[in-house]
Amino acid sequence: MNKLCSLTLAAALLCAACHSSEKTSTGIGTRVDSVLALMTLDEKIGQLTLFTSDIDVTGPTMRENYKEDIKAGRVGAIFNAYGAAYTRKLQEIAVKETRLHIPLLFGYDVVHGHRTIFPMPLGEAASWDLAAIEKSARIAADEASAEGLHWTFAPMCDIARDPRWGRITEGAGEDVYLGSKIAAARVKGIQGDGVGSLNSVMACVKHFAAYGAAQAGRDYHTTDMSDRVLRETYLPPYKAALDAGAATVMTSFNELDGVPATGNKYLMTDILRKEWNFTGFVVTDYTSIMEMIPHGIAEDTASAAALALEAGVDMDMQAGFYNDALAGLVKAGKLKESLIDGAVRRILRKKFELGLFDDPYRYSSEQREKETLMSAANLEAARDVARKSIVLLKNDKQLLPLKKDIRKLAVIGPLAHARKEMIGSWCAAGDWTKASTLLEGVKQAVSPGTQVLYAKGCAIDNDSTQSIAQAVRTAQQADVVILAVGEGAWMTGEAASRASLNLPGVQQQLVEAIYKTGKPVVAVLLNGRPLTIPWMDAQIPAILEAWFPGTVGGQAIADVLFGDYSPSGKLPVTFPRAVGQIPLYYSMKHTGRPMDPNNKYTSKYLDERNDPLYPFGYGLSYTTFSYGPVQVDKQEMTQQDELTVTCTVTNTGARAGKETVQLYLHDITGSVTRPVRELKGFQQIVLEPGASQNVTFKLTVHDLSFYRRDMSFGTEPGKFEVFVGTNARDAQGTTFALR
Ligand code: NOJ
Repeated sequence: MNKLCSLTLAAALLCAACHSSEKTSTGIGTRVDSVLALMTLDEKIGQLTLFTSDIDVTGPTMRENYKEDIKAGRVGAIFNAYGAAYTRKLQEIAVKETRLHIPLLFGYDVVHGHRTIFPMPLGEAASWDLAAIEKSARIAADEASAEGLHWTFAPMCDIARDPRWGRITEGAGEDVYLGSKIAAARVKGIQGDGVGSLNSVMACVKHFAAYGAAQAGRDYHTTDMSDRVLRETYLPPYKAALDAGAATVMTSFNELDGVPATGNKYLMTDILRKEWNFTGFVVTDYTSIMEMIPHGIAEDTASAAALALEAGVDMDMQAGFYNDALAGLVKAGKLKESLIDGAVRRILRKKFELGLFDDPYRYSSEQREKETLMSAANLEAARDVARKSIVLLKNDKQLLPLKKDIRKLAVIGPLAHARKEMIGSWCAAGDWTKASTLLEGVKQAVSPGTQVLYAKGCAIDNDSTQSIAQAVRTAQQADVVILAVGEGAWMTGEAASRASLNLPGVQQQLVEAIYKTGKPVVAVLLNGRPLTIPWMDAQIPAILEAWFPGTVGGQAIADVLFGDYSPSGKLPVTFPRAVGQIPLYYSMKHTGRPMDPNNKYTSKYLDERNDPLYPFGYGLSYTTFSYGPVQVDKQEMTQQDELTVTCTVTNTGARAGKETVQLYLHDITGSVTRPVRELKGFQQIVLEPGASQNVTFKLTVHDLSFYRRDMSFGTEPGKFEVFVGTNARDAQGTTFALR
């Protein structure tokens, strides 16, 4: 058969495979196999390769000729390319100019919105509002898919208990239960009606596994922990995301127990595929195959590529190591081609599920782009999530909410009119020039007669104090000062670890100078992680944590400042008093010598308190809530029972408000020690002034289960404490027993 004939036959067979009307997964399996049967070894390896485009760059690039790579069949997926027209153009190269016409996948880090930017994920987590979080992810996926994207590298499900780690901003914080619920909500939002529905993209659960436990909070650093901690604390959110149907998984940069995740068979095969039955595909994080050489576990390209593939990694992002080494390894008899076939199958299957073999351009729609991107409804949803994410940390003498008809208001600080910072890090195709600033939000909210003054005061992060005096003069003219301080967006996210969590630069000096004017000061924090602000907590009467609130963040903060929305956010992460306390999280263990201030030989510091500045779950409202006694419906529970826990919550203030009622559990004695408190449930209620509500939780034996001494998961009989309250510290308890 001549070359042309064989190519025509291949294309015809491929078409037959693609246009088969079978819709079942067995049907897809047959079609995948029929495509695979046509592929050369090089074409197969091409499908395992993901390269970045040059539209956006999210790490070091070694290759710029990705279009040539597409044409040559060396690449099966492209990331950092978006836009209906551009993705269509690249897709055309794959579909028209390669031998087998296999369509490309387009991926991108759509992390907290695509064009309409929502609060950074940690901020969204502070809303504890699963429906709002799901909706935010839904809108992000809707916008992303209209721009030709099939796949987002989200959600990040890494439990993070070290705020020095810049990437704490990308997840849901420190808690296993909350983190798992949010991970599932995000996947549901991203994948909508499922892979293949036009306004959905595939989720990618990252970074598998335990990336959040990087030592000393330093990015890319070593992770080491017991299997118990791994399974009990770090794995559940990834698992919850997969149970919610996430289509893909990304490896993490860190090593675990001496083996980098990208070469870690225990993680990628034993746990992910064998224990959890994951059937989607696994992609590396960026060049992590290559990074196994400096890690010191592979000596060259070939051994790194083999280690990754044999561990269970299907797709190589950006290293090009699969491209460079796999064919040689197979030809030398050092690697089974069947391993490559398995990975190709998993990737092709997703391309079929996405409908790309039926219509490779189906997601690249200029029409949908026009209708969807930054629509009024999307912006309104972003404003809603942003105000729900804001946490009121302090409000002495009810300084907040402010009246809209204040005569003169000074808005001061390096974050007050910092448009670029509003959308935070990892903001996909978000356009910071379209974001509103706090100053603008305030100006829009106040009465026509209010005069709004502005002074920057200092930069976010340099040593110059020369503008502080001007800011003080501005403050002196005002009746109230709104002082916006915090971090730059660039100080959070990847490669943004900090050894100090104080306000950067000379901001502390600015805060103290403004405080000294004696004017009432409301501090608004814009930042990506817990900061150590004990001085502010002691001196500044009102503090709002606004995170990086997104495109309409300015208006959202103003909604809260002026009382159009009563704050309801609760911290998804502990705020330490000092860096030296880290790691500091609420679900710690008692130790054999629990802290006793009168006994030197107990677990404490000589120079700092043990407790946090603000505990997990903490957040005030413009109203107040009181909690009645916690009641259980039985003193003894059996393996077959459910326990009903009830508590009456009353709005004791003068305004309506939303409260997140939290339930914590403590297993007093076990075959292994148990945390002092573990979140096992929460409910959000809205109460009018004076109104009460009985809040009821059901605890099952699953909630009481843990990894026992022999690592089996289950319960042990004994006594438990159950607490219901407004945060992890302020909660009342009662006891019950499990028989
Ligand atoms: C590296 C980051 O760790 C990961 O989260 C991201 O998805 C990739 N780069 C792609 O941008």
